[in-house]
Amino acid sequence: MRTQVGIVGAGPAGLMLSHLLHLRGVESVVIDLQTRESIEQTIKAGILEQGTVDLMRRTGVGDRLMRDGFVHHGINLAFSGGLHRINMYELTGGRSVTVYAQHEVLIDLIARRLADGGDVRFGVSDTQVEDVESEQPRIRFTHEGRQETLECDFVIGADGSRTSTRFLIPEGAVRTDFFRQYPFAWFGILAEAPPSSDELIYAHSERGFVLVSTRSPSVQRLYFQCDPDTVVDDWSDDRIWEEFQARLAPSGAQLTTGRIFKKDVLQFRSFVCEPMQYGRLFLAGDAAHTVPPTGAKGLNLAMADVHVLDRALGAYYDTKDTGLLESYTRTALQRVWRAQWFSFWMTSMLHRFSDASDFDLRRQIAELELVTTSPTAAKTLADNYTGLPLT
Ligand code: DHB
Repeated sequence: MRTQVGIVGAGPAGLMLSHLLHLRGVESVVIDLQTRESIEQTIKAGILEQGTVDLMRRTGVGDRLMRDGFVHHGINLAFSGGLHRINMYELTGGRSVTVYAQHEVLIDLIARRLADGGDVRFGVSDTQVEDVESEQPRIRFTHEGRQETLECDFVIGADGSRTSTRFLIPEGAVRTDFFRQYPFAWFGILAEAPPSSDELIYAHSERGFVLVSTRSPSVQRLYFQCDPDTVVDDWSDDRIWEEFQARLAPSGAQLTTGRIFKKDVLQFRSFVCEPMQYGRLFLAGDAAHTVPPTGAKGLNLAMADVHVLDRALGAYYDTKDTGLLESYTRTALQRVWRAQWFSFWMTSMLHRFSDASDFDLRRQIAELELVTTSPTAAKTLADNYTGLPLT
């Protein structure tokens, strides 16, 4: 088999890139270890930046998003016994975020790729990428019991945080990994209950952070900060609701409760790999970088990476100009490091660190007062939360 761009990973980065390339007449094949069902059912984050929404709408995959997504013009920060709204829409001159779950984005992209005759292979195994230093890299894999070899001009490593493609970039000589671990995690639940609040609540509390989010008019997504080794089964529904109430009560926020039908623990890491390109291999999304979930930047960064890659590959196929391909790492990393800073900032402003002194707690409150009272500081938060425009 032969294609122009071989894409490893049918997540947001891989599928969106395949879609964008198709629109400009560039061929691609996408492969993934997981089945279509598993990809379409795995619950992840749910906040789309303005730029992600615009990109999906502009390229014809935004219909369901416009119908079923919820546009949020603000967020609430809870601290020191009060609830403080940040009006992102006003502060940014009309930008907002949309609550629409990642697996719904994937359902939309898969449907569109298949309707457009795209080649997406699910449930592959034994994937091996070869010769990325040459002008004719290859992807070998097994699909439906047959061994396949896909000859490509370029290989895209969009295989998520459990990537194998990243390790094709020689560590040390070429690749540097930047890494930070956090001493906590999030306990996440999905509950059959209408939203507790019209807009998200990010709550600072002496018992630890809470995030009140939503998925639909009948399903809430909530998280509380926990130890990384927390065992889900140690937490009964009653104990979970009591913990949420204890952390939120001082701010006056009221919780609507209901049957909890999913519980999970999310680990916290910040990670960046540099460079994001080696020979004819280009990394995109979580294969190259991971952010802690505070601020929901992961999916949006993946979309921004492939927006840059699509243009770079487009320029190459139009004119053989390799300039944008060569500057891919530099262009993508600028946004990646900004998102790393933002996610780290939100995380460290809102979470309880086990070694925090009373000084640290009061400093956090001063910072939260700053971002909720200073228009300049609030604008910094709003600009970064709604996301920098895709350039
Ligand atoms: C969600 C996750 C986040 O990390 C965040 O900052 C906001 C919302 C969510 O899953 O709904």
